[in-house]
Amino acid sequence: MQQHDHQHGPGDGHDHGHDHAPAPSPAPAPAHMHGPGGAPDQKARLEAMKRSWQQKKRIGQHLTRIKRKVGVYSGKGGVGKSTVAVNLAALHASRGAQVGIFDADIDCPNVLKLMKVEDAHPHMIEGQIIPAVMHGVHVISMAAFQEKEDEAIIFRGPMIHNALTQFIEITDWGDLDYLYVDMPPGTSDAAITVMQTMQLDGFVVVTTPQELAVLDARRSINMMKKLNVPVLGIVENMTSDIFGKGGGELLAKETGCPFFGSIQLRSAFRSPDRPAALADKHVRAEFERVLDALLAPVAATK
Ligand SMILES: Nc1ncnc2c1ncn2[C@@H]1O[C@H](COP(=O)(O)OP(=O)(O)O)[C@@H](O)[C@H]1O
Ligand SMILES: [Mg+2]
Repeated sequence: MQQHDHQHGPGDGHDHGHDHAPAPSPAPAPAHMHGPGGAPDQKARLEAMKRSWQQKKRIGQHLTRIKRKVGVYSGKGGVGKSTVAVNLAALHASRGAQVGIFDADIDCPNVLKLMKVEDAHPHMIEGQIIPAVMHGVHVISMAAFQEKEDEAIIFRGPMIHNALTQFIEITDWGDLDYLYVDMPPGTSDAAITVMQTMQLDGFVVVTTPQELAVLDARRSINMMKKLNVPVLGIVENMTSDIFGKGGGELLAKETGCPFFGSIQLRSAFRSPDRPAALADKHVRAEFERVLDALLAPVAATK
């Protein structure tokens, strides 16, 4: 794959025609690109190390103001990962906690759409991005860099890592009780970058009830075990006569992870103005159960 055929995103200096946060400048090229061998190369390498250390320090400073960081993850797209992340965050905020959501799904950043708020934008103060607040949730989405809603965001190779780490570096969440991260799906570079950069407390794994989805979820759980990231629990989504029931619970038994509950397939998710957990009492009851189950083990890890 070529690097130059249509890329954009944080770092390309695009004028996106909005008055919200401008894209951050690109991360410096890695030291090995500064020329072949010799002293200048070594100096460049040292500078790159210093920059990367400073970046880690800044990220650390922002992240220590967040009490808990939980990733919402799935083996593949379309299973309702963003839906689960958004509804958990909105419900959690409605209980009075300071809650944020970071839409880190760099290919399909859908959190803003699922929040049903089109015109709230993050703003920039002294080089830091300040999240917009929607339904009581502090929201940052990679979609802020899309020109048009249906336009694909194409990040490749090192760009993915640079864009995500920079984004994490310059976002000032303030003091949060809880940050939900809508993770990129699968075992991609983007997923691994977020896992390694954000020092998450653990993950909620979302699966649909079918056998194939459960297979993908099992693969993700194995990857997290390899990276020593705790799986806090499993949520089955889209439980129904159509897709079936029980795959999530079975997966939980097989992997030894807690089962947090299931979310039925319902038309209430098409609610036009609010996340369904705030609009529909049946959806709310299901998410209350998942949230209670989530808060119990995370509280115990600290
Ligand atoms: N339980 C559910 N009932 C009905 N529709 C759902 C449910 N969960 C998700 N959806 C819908 O399915 C689509 C995909 O969900 P999404 O959360 O975007 O998946 P992912 O983030 O895993 O790609 C969205 O249109 C969402 O509104
Ligand atoms: Mg999504």
